[in-house]
Amino acid sequence: MHHFVVYCSPSGSTRRVAGVIADKLADLGLATGVFDLGESRDRQELEKLCSDLPSPRCLWIGTPVYVDHMVPPVQNFIMSLPKDGETYAVPFITWGGVNSGVALAEMGSSLMEKGSTLLGAAKVLAVHSSMWALEHPLGEGHPDSGDDAAVRKLVDAVHEKLASGTKAPLPLKVLDYQSDAIKEAARKKNIAMAKKAYAKLEADVEKCTQCGQCAAMCPAGAITLNPYPQFAEECFICLKCVRECPEGAIPQDMVTAGKRILDMAAAVNEPPRTDIFV
Ligand SMILES: Cc1cc2nc3c(=O)[nH]c(=O)nc-3n(C[C@H](O)[C@H](O)[C@H](O)COP(=O)(O)O)c2cc1C
Ligand code: SF4
Ligand code: SF4
Repeated sequence: MHHFVVYCSPSGSTRRVAGVIADKLADLGLATGVFDLGESRDRQELEKLCSDLPSPRCLWIGTPVYVDHMVPPVQNFIMSLPKDGETYAVPFITWGGVNSGVALAEMGSSLMEKGSTLLGAAKVLAVHSSMWALEHPLGEGHPDSGDDAAVRKLVDAVHEKLASGTKAPLPLKVLDYQSDAIKEAARKKNIAMAKKAYAKLEADVEKCTQCGQCAAMCPAGAITLNPYPQFAEECFICLKCVRECPEGAIPQDMVTAGKRILDMAAAVNEPPRTDIFV
């Protein structure tokens, strides 16, 4: 079995979970390819690999939850998967304590449309990646060692399934855990809507040194320098450029944004925070 861990992680929480998975697979003596969809070199390598993906394979695919859904780079990756070969899949999400939405159910169903057999899944609570301006962001301190332990348990369970003859599939309905009201609300939400909640991304030419770091770090490859940063449609509002610009040259009112998210979270209460499905 060939194992691949593929993820997108603008703020690092999904990368941490991917790392726990890869380390645990290594402990089990299983060689693993690890790919960050936010890195253009990894994206190119994956593109090549996907045209001739070794089989049988087990794909561990991770996304942060954005406005209740998986992020576009992960959706595009799943769409690009070849349908041939024997594929097992384990989707995992990190979410910021507002609402884990329908991301896992959507990943599960897209993967099954690609002919994959689901073997497990995980949702992991993480610090909310657009609340850094607040003293106590939602999901503060997560993922923590308890979350890591749950993820390692998932890897063990999937490994056992693969080792057993039956390779018992995880029924898709297990990932369909949200209420009808949340599912209906999720249907109306998308990245374009999230973008509208923030000020248009624009560099402050008084502060910007044209260093290009924002373009290099953008997980969507959406920034070009001309001579100041220009933001293309592919931007999925991860806000990494805003947070990490060394000059603070991409203005955004993150305190107001953080308070708005707190208000949204107050209307939802979604236990359990971290959960594995096998
Ligand atoms: C634009 C945007 C939308 C988000 N939407 C949600 C959401 O709907 N529900 C939620 O609980 N967290 C939401 N989050 C928080 C992230 O899901 C969470 O912090 C995740 O762990 C980030 O993963 P990363 O650190 O790998 O980038 C959102 C974050 C951003 C930037
Ligand atoms: S990282 Fe900041 S300073 Fe550097 S080019 Fe981008 S906006 Fe300008
Ligand atoms: S332009 Fe900025 S906010 Fe948009 S995807 Fe790139 S890094 Fe994220």
